[in-house]
Amino acid sequence: MLEGKKIILGVTGGIAAYKTVILARLLVKAGAEVQVIMTPNAKEFITPLTMSTITSKPVISEFFTANTGEWHSHVDLGVWADAMVIAPATASTIAKLANGVADNMLVTTYLSSKSPVFIAPAMDLDMMRHPTTIHNLEMLKSYGNHIIEPTSGELASHLVGKGRMEEPENIFNVLSDFFETTSQLEGKKVLITAGPTVESIDPVRFISNHSSGKMGYAIAEECALRGAEVTLVSGPVSLSMTNSNVNLVKVNTACEMYAKVMGHTDESDLVVLCAAVADYRAEQISERKIKRDATDTLTIKLVENPDIAKAVGEKKHSGQVVVGFALETDNEEEHAREKLAKKNLDMIVLNSLNDKGAGFKTDTNKVTILERGGAVHNYECKSKRLVAKDIIDVVVNNHFAK
Ligand code: CTP
Repeated sequence: MLEGKKIILGVTGGIAAYKTVILARLLVKAGAEVQVIMTPNAKEFITPLTMSTITSKPVISEFFTANTGEWHSHVDLGVWADAMVIAPATASTIAKLANGVADNMLVTTYLSSKSPVFIAPAMDLDMMRHPTTIHNLEMLKSYGNHIIEPTSGELASHLVGKGRMEEPENIFNVLSDFFETTSQLEGKKVLITAGPTVESIDPVRFISNHSSGKMGYAIAEECALRGAEVTLVSGPVSLSMTNSNVNLVKVNTACEMYAKVMGHTDESDLVVLCAAVADYRAEQISERKIKRDATDTLTIKLVENPDIAKAVGEKKHSGQVVVGFALETDNEEEHAREKLAKKNLDMIVLNSLNDKGAGFKTDTNKVTILERGGAVHNYECKSKRLVAKDIIDVVVNNHFAK
């Protein structure tokens, strides 16, 4: 999995740096190209000569080589790497990373990095549990960095507690698993619908629903993370999509969503229909604002919108996987199974509005996945990001396993 991967290995000034020598060796043995960057303090614990000998590359530590004036471009390094690992990461480096204090080559490269970053903290137990460190790690996590949690045991201070850097073999396995996951959907095209549709009645009013789009956006992120090229056709939501592997196509109405989906479905290996599409639209959109009149009722004639999932299911080609959603309030499994069959889906993700934490607006969801062959997978209530992971795991394991 690591063959040919370009890895920046950042080493900071902690005693666990001696273990990073083993990590460098494991990475090199697995075929990775490793560029070590050491902070000035790291060189007090292990020598650059050790690391450059193991990696067959000069270690970078300063912004430039003093006697030649050769500049080491943190920008080029940030673009070059497939992953950056900082092990050990001291409390000081963690604080600098979290706050963008770019006063050494390592932190500067981190700020320029385009690749995923893995941080393996190592420090004394009191530093580890200090609210400042906890807060800094939370910040780093929220920016999408991967924290490789330290373990508990005897520390350099001879105190016993949490703060030991994870063993080099386990850090290696984290990286290896990461690259395995990110290649699962490599070369695959994924089409996803998300959010509500909005059907105008007049220039002021519309028919819509409470869908936030969070589930569909989380699935798009997950597929992109696993290497897919994603097209996300989204109704109006307040979310943004920054992942460059996701092509965001914005629509308003069900008819617009239908047209965009039909334009992409043939080329897609996986189609996930997550949008809460309005089943009906006004037959006539009034050009003027509808005025209140003397009667106490108002009738608006609605006509049916296209069923996008059904249309995708009808066109399904061999090898293509189509996943639908069902949000139900009663006889949940029965209704979901009916939709699975009627729309010719391979899988349907059922969420019940009766379950706490499931459905619209929330950051969590509780789902049951029903497969065409009859298999049923039940899950606990969890974040939509983790639900997306569960859904794509089933797709990968049962349809795209290499
Ligand atoms: N769906 C769709 N186009 C529609 C309606 C639904 O693509 N016009 C998709 C949804 O994205 C979802 C699945 O079909 O994947 C089921 O949606 P749902 O609204 O539960 O089903 P309906 O067929 O509309 O049934 P009902 O609203 O009567 O429960």
